[in-house]
Amino acid sequence: MKIYTEKTQIQKAIKLFKDKNLSIGYVPTMGALHEGHLSLVEEAFKGNDVVVVSIFVNPTQFDNKKDLKKYPRTLEADTRLLESLDKDILLYAPTVEDIYDNKTVAEHFSFDGLEFEMEGKFRTGHFDGVGTIVKKLFEIVLPDEAYFGKKDFQQLQIIKKLVEKYHIPVKVIGCEIFREANGLAMSSRNARLKEAYKMESPFIYETLKTAKIKFGTESASKVTTWVEKEFAKHELLKLQYFIIAAEDTLKPVKIKSKNNTYRAFIAVYADEIRLIDNIALN
Ligand code: PAJ
Repeated sequence: MKIYTEKTQIQKAIKLFKDKNLSIGYVPTMGALHEGHLSLVEEAFKGNDVVVVSIFVNPTQFDNKKDLKKYPRTLEADTRLLESLDKDILLYAPTVEDIYDNKTVAEHFSFDGLEFEMEGKFRTGHFDGVGTIVKKLFEIVLPDEAYFGKKDFQQLQIIKKLVEKYHIPVKVIGCEIFREANGLAMSSRNARLKEAYKMESPFIYETLKTAKIKFGTESASKVTTWVEKEFAKHELLKLQYFIIAAEDTLKPVKIKSKNNTYRAFIAVYADEIRLIDNIALN
C-alpha cells in the first residue's frame, strides 16, 4: 500500500479519482488500528468507489502532554491491518509540519453547547483540537462521505455541527460501535487492561443494557442512582459519569418524551485506563 505523507501528494492522487467522477469515502483515525476502525473502512467501501484512511496523532486535541507522548504509534502494524482488507485504500499519514505548518495550535469553535457536555467537562480544549484537525483534513481530502464511530458519539455530533456551520460539503455518517466478544467497546486502550480489570470490563456494557430497559419505565435520575449503586459493588471500576441525554443536544434529560431520541453515556476508570461507551435508548 502506498503511504502518502504530504498533502500535495495525496491531493494529487485523490484528484485522479475525482476527475473520473468516482466518489471518495474517508475515515480519519489516529492509528493504533483495531477492528472497530476496520469496520468504518468497510462501511466506507459500501458507499464509495475509493476510500482514504488517514493516520495522524493530532497534538492539539490532547489536553495532557504525557498522553500525547504515550499515544501508540504503530504505522507498520496499521498498514498490515489495512492491507488485510484486500481493498484499494489510499493511506494518508502526514507529519505534524505537513498539517500544522509549525503553528501547532487549535482554532476556537462554538458547537452550540455540544462541546460543554460530558467529555467536554473532563478534557479541556479537546473538541477545539478535534474540530481544527477534522476541518483541515476535510479541506485536504475533500471527501464525499466521512465515517465516524458512535463509540465517540459526542465527537460524531460535533463533526456534524462543524460541517453544518462551515457549510462543508461532506456527508457525515455515524457507524455502530464495534465490540469485543464480551461486549466491551473496542478501543486501542483495551490491550493495556490488566487481567483483573479485563475480567470486570464487560460489566460496563451489561449495565448500559439494563439501564436501557429500566429507562423504559423509570426516570433518568432513578436509573442513574441504580447505576451508581451497581458500580459501587465493583471496586475495580470507578464510575466517572453516567448520563442520559438527548441525542441532538447532548443535554441531560429527566424523563423520556416521545418526540426525541436518547442515549446513555458512560465513562469509567479501570485502573488508570479510561473507558467510554454509550447505548441508544429508543
Ligand atoms: P480514533 O480514536 O483513532 O478513532 C477513529 C474513528 O474510529 C472515530 O470515528 C472513532 O469513533 C472510531 N472508533 C473507534 N473505536 C471504535 C469502535 N469500537 N467502534 C466503532 N468505531 C470506533 O477519533 C479519533 O481517532 C480522532 O479524534 C479523529 C476523529 C481522527 C481526529 O483526530
